[in-house]
Formats: sequence, C-alpha cells, structure tokens
Amino acid sequence: MKVLVIGGGGREHAIVWKLSQSPKVTQIYCAPGNPGIAELATCVSIAVSDIEKLAAFAKMEQIDLTFVGPEEPLSLGIVNYFKEQGLAVYGPSKEAAMIEGSKAFAKELMIKYGIPTAKYAAFTNYEDALAYVRSEGAPIVIKADGLAAGKGVVVAKKMEEAEEALKRMLKEVTFGSAGARVVVEEYLEGEEMTLLAFVNGTIVKAMVPAQDHKPVYDGDQGPNTGGMGTYAPLPHIDSSMVERIIHEIVEPTAKAMAAEGCPFEGILYTGLMLTKSGPKVIEYNARFGDPETQVVLPLLETDLLDILLASLTGELEKVEVKWKDKAAICVIMSSAGYPGPYEKGQVINGLDQVAYPTIVFHAGTTEKEGAIVTNGGRVLGITAIGENLGQARELAYQSVEKVSFIGAHYRTDIGSKAFR
Ligand code: AMP
Ligand code: GLY
Repeated sequence: MKVLVIGGGGREHAIVWKLSQSPKVTQIYCAPGNPGIAELATCVSIAVSDIEKLAAFAKMEQIDLTFVGPEEPLSLGIVNYFKEQGLAVYGPSKEAAMIEGSKAFAKELMIKYGIPTAKYAAFTNYEDALAYVRSEGAPIVIKADGLAAGKGVVVAKKMEEAEEALKRMLKEVTFGSAGARVVVEEYLEGEEMTLLAFVNGTIVKAMVPAQDHKPVYDGDQGPNTGGMGTYAPLPHIDSSMVERIIHEIVEPTAKAMAAEGCPFEGILYTGLMLTKSGPKVIEYNARFGDPETQVVLPLLETDLLDILLASLTGELEKVEVKWKDKAAICVIMSSAGYPGPYEKGQVINGLDQVAYPTIVFHAGTTEKEGAIVTNGGRVLGITAIGENLGQARELAYQSVEKVSFIGAHYRTDIGSKAFR
C-alpha cells in the first residue's frame, strides 16, 4: 500500500517510522517531511494547509491511505475534503476536530456530558474578563480560544501575570484570531498525564499512558513549550487509574461526540490532571501528541496500518491493540531561546553516533549544503527504548551527549517524576 503522511515534525517522523515497519506498506510519502523522515519516505514539498494540492497529489500518486499528523489541516477540514474526493484518509472531520480547535466547544461538551474538568468562563471583552479574574484570584489559567500551537496558555501564579495575559490576548491580540476569545480556568493541582486513544465512533482503544514536560527548564521552571520530553508508560500511576480514566472520561467523550452528531474518528488526545478529587481533563487534541507519539509508537506491538485500516471500515473493535512490555523516553533538544525567538541554521553533529534502541526523531531540521541544520524551536527528539524506564533514561541521555549543535538545550530531568 502507498501511504501519505501529512506533517513534518517529530510526531510525523515517529508515525512514518512505525508505518515503515508494516509489511503491507510498500511506499511512504510525507508532506512536507524533514531530513530525518527522508530516510524512510519520499518527502513532497506541499504545505500541510494546502489541502487541494495534497488531495491532487494523493490522486495522482494513487495513495491508498493518507494519515494527517497536525491539527491545522484537520481544523481546516482536510478529512472532509479528501472524503468528498473519494480519497481514503484517517483522522477526524472538521466538525470533530473542534474538540481541539475550540476550547469553548470542548468545555461546553464536558459540562453537558458530566466529564470532569476545571471550572471555566469564556470572554471576548477585556473588562469583563478582568473583573472575573480579579474575583477568582490567582493562581488562575488563561487560554486563548482556538489553535495557538500549545503556546496560547498562561498558568498565572500571580494576579499581575493573569492581567498581563488578558491584555495581550484580548487587547493586543498577539495570537491572531485565536486571541479574540479567552477561556479563564480554575487552576488544577496534581500530576499531569496524557492518554492517547484510537477512537472509531464510540469504540475506544487506549494507548499506553505518557507524561509530557511542558516548561522549558528542569523542575518545571520557565515558560511552557510544545513539550520538552516524554516517557511511557507511567510506572508510578496505577493501572486502575488508567482504567478509570478510560471509563469515566475517554469513552464518555467518544459517546458525547457521537451524540452531538460529530462522531470522532481518529486519534483522541486527552490531557489530564490527576487531582485530589480525581482525574480531570485539561485539554483534548484531535491528533497524536508531540512528543508523546515519539514514546508511544515505539511501544506499539500491533501493526499501526492494521489499526488505521480497521477504523476506516468501522471495525476497530476487532483489532487487538498490543503493547510491548518495555519503556520509552524522549528527550527534546531545542534551540537556544525557545520558546521565545531563536536562531536557525546551526549545524547538527553526531547524528550518526546514535543507533537502535535509541532513535533520533527529527522535528525542526533542514538540509543545507549537505549538512543537517537546525530549523525550528524543537530540533530533535531522542527516544530510547529500554527494558524499564531507568534503562531507557540512561540510554536516552547517553545519546543526547553524542549529538550537538550550538545553543542546544535540553531538560536533564525527563522521567524523574516516576522515580520520586
Ligand atoms: P493546554 O494547552 O490547555 O494543555 O495547556 C498547556 C499546559 O498548561 C498544560 O499542559 C498544563 O501544564 C497547564 N494547564 C492548562 N490548564 C491548566 C489548569 N486548569 N490548571 C493547571 N494547569 C493547567
Ligand atoms: N505535547 C503536547 C501536545 O502535543 O499538544
């Protein structure tokens, strides 16, 4: 089968890597891809948002299945368009992708269907938002409604930070149209985790739980990023907690989406906080997480293509999704300055020093004059697979030491919450 993967980050590298192991896959294309992906797939330079061009390419190349990695084309309706054109595509419709695209939609869904989440209020008017935030007090969380690449969220420990964020999002509108409306949320305290699931209407097959590390510095200090590292599974979180999350949160979410007339078909990402009063949803995404995918897919035993194909015919229930009895950890190497402004074009050395069971997933890289150079905030994700988390962590950090570029930054404490 010929497969097209849309996207060009670390997540898509992991998806392509996993699909390349399927005996049924004969050829993989990736749009736009990156130099790491190019080792496994033919990269095609079409932007992820250029839906018509992507569909024309899929037709011309007689692609058997298209997999959509990032949120942007999903929210733009790539799945609807491909289906209208008679093309096989895996991912949620534009309507179902609203679960990520609009935080207000997600919040209203959770309230209507009794899915536990933080208390919230939505505002478009700065003065009203300010009055509410002042009455609630800090700590409090301010979120731009709409897609903001994971960076439209401010966890304000102090009132001044909250006011600053409101001003930025509602008065100066630095987040573009995503900032026209803000969601103000109760601050949830506890440990965070991600539960990804394959969802086929009301059928849910959960993946292994993972944990991301959003703040840029060790000890969860500094501003939030798209994610600085992940590990899976979570040995310190009871399997009964995961079962509870599936039954009380993920399955009810799938049912709620179906009941709303926008059944979810694709990868549902549930970001959770394990609070004293039980697990609560922080956010949903309508796609694989980045960098969660870089630790979850290496642990998947089952052929990913089989899961995707079964979902397209409504038969996900029949597939046994199996996991390896191992652990994986991913350490992100980022450019100096990220998540703020950063330089591009630094030569990356040592990539050839890393071998399985460690994998270098490329995120923000490009090729320049025969060298692989930095081309984004998150540059690489170094994933190691071990018999247990301790071994995986050792392997990952050994490899991180071998790879270098000027200004490279990484957290040294990925996975440490599991050892406390
Ligand atoms: P989101 O994009 O909604 O996942 O938010 C990004 C990050 O902000 C999350 O991963 C959490 O670390 C943090 N966060 C979001 N909402 C809350 C909340 N209600 N309470 C505490 N932390 C939150
Ligand atoms: N790692 C967080 C996300 O993919 O949104």
